[in-house]
Amino acid sequence: MRKKKVMSIFGTRPEAIKMAPVVQELEKNADQFESIVVVTAQHREMLDQVLDIFKITPDYDLDIMKQNQTLSEMTSRVLMALDEILSQEKPDIVLVHGDTTTSFVASLAAFYHQIKIGHVEAGLRTWDKYAPYPEEMNRQMTDCLADVYFAPTELSRENLLKSPINPEKIFVTGNTVVDAIQQTTLLGFTHPVSQKLKKDTKKILLTMHRRENLGKPMENVFFAVQEIVEKNNDVEVIYPVHPNPKVQEMARKILGHLSQVHLIEPLDVVDFHNCMATVDFIISDSGGVQEEAPSVGKKVLVLRDKTERPEGLETGVLKLIGTQKEKVYNEIDELLAEVGVTHDDKLKNNPYGQGDASQKIIEILSEIL
Ligand code: UD1
Ligand code: UDP
Repeated sequence: MRKKKVMSIFGTRPEAIKMAPVVQELEKNADQFESIVVVTAQHREMLDQVLDIFKITPDYDLDIMKQNQTLSEMTSRVLMALDEILSQEKPDIVLVHGDTTTSFVASLAAFYHQIKIGHVEAGLRTWDKYAPYPEEMNRQMTDCLADVYFAPTELSRENLLKSPINPEKIFVTGNTVVDAIQQTTLLGFTHPVSQKLKKDTKKILLTMHRRENLGKPMENVFFAVQEIVEKNNDVEVIYPVHPNPKVQEMARKILGHLSQVHLIEPLDVVDFHNCMATVDFIISDSGGVQEEAPSVGKKVLVLRDKTERPEGLETGVLKLIGTQKEKVYNEIDELLAEVGVTHDDKLKNNPYGQGDASQKIIEILSEIL
């Protein structure tokens, strides 16, 4: 029997982390599948960190990243570059992940070539066009073009069913990020900043990068963090700053001079997951971090008004706090008062997956191709 050619296309750090277990699983089943990895390199250094950790060598690297890239520039560069590769390779299916520009444009390119599309992490929704922006529309448009849907949860399956999608094409698999974090969290946090942290301080991990939070919302949050450390000398904040120049500039300006705030380069995923496991709680506007937090039993104050991952709100691991300065300050203050209190085990029950999503995806591919 001819091996089925599966082309995984991804380009950013979060897609790479969540597709790595799928690529690994395809490689384990090399008797059935020929796995081809195409990276757009919408991200460069942050993507390479993940490829190194998971030992993935791409077959094609489009190397499209530019400083301060616009959505339209990325869209046209990825679309043009994929044309030739798809004509040449003619895969049986293209796998895309989530909601980035790479995901949407790769599915558009595959559609133009009439190649089947599998959407990993399908069906997440806020139903608000601009929250998060442009990811909500990227995932809706990707779902419009897809042929097979790997929905992480029952709720994402229900979201998909609100569109005219054949229910038989939807498979609930869990989120592959849980597969990834199960590989990394045994390895320890060894970054130099871990040596600098004091023993008896309360530790907060911060990440913030979303396009809709650039400018005023980000400024509000950073001022709230500044006030927190100025009023509490027993608090330390670890902040791996996203390389987006707009984020870098504001982080340095508002937080750069504060000795209790450690502004560091993005951590590799092993250190990041283990840092999550080490701190007292997390403040973030990230999508992936919301799904990973239950695996390490840590609460996340989510710097957004809406989340496409509401499952964690019910278990109490996530709380939406928006980006108003006073609200952010008060919510951090409240969680600081809780440090040392043992949370019930409900927090550790990960509603996003059990760690077997990539295995399920490969079993499904094996059946349908
Ligand atoms: C993109 C995704 C977003 C995801 C985020 C993860 C879209 C539309 N958005 O955000 O869903 O949450 O990535 O981080 O696809 N940069 C570097 N080195 C890197 C990566 C980025 O220097 O390794 C800088 C570049 O100047 C780049 C800028 O950061 O232009 C922004 O990167 P970009 O991929 O455009 O980020 P977002 O679209 O904000
Ligand atoms: N992450 C990382 N290093 C960091 C910050 C985050 O490896 O310094 C990982 C994190 O564990 C998660 C992913 O990056 O898996 C989230 O990426 P990001 O927040 O950039 O994007 P989003 O998930 O919001 O799309």
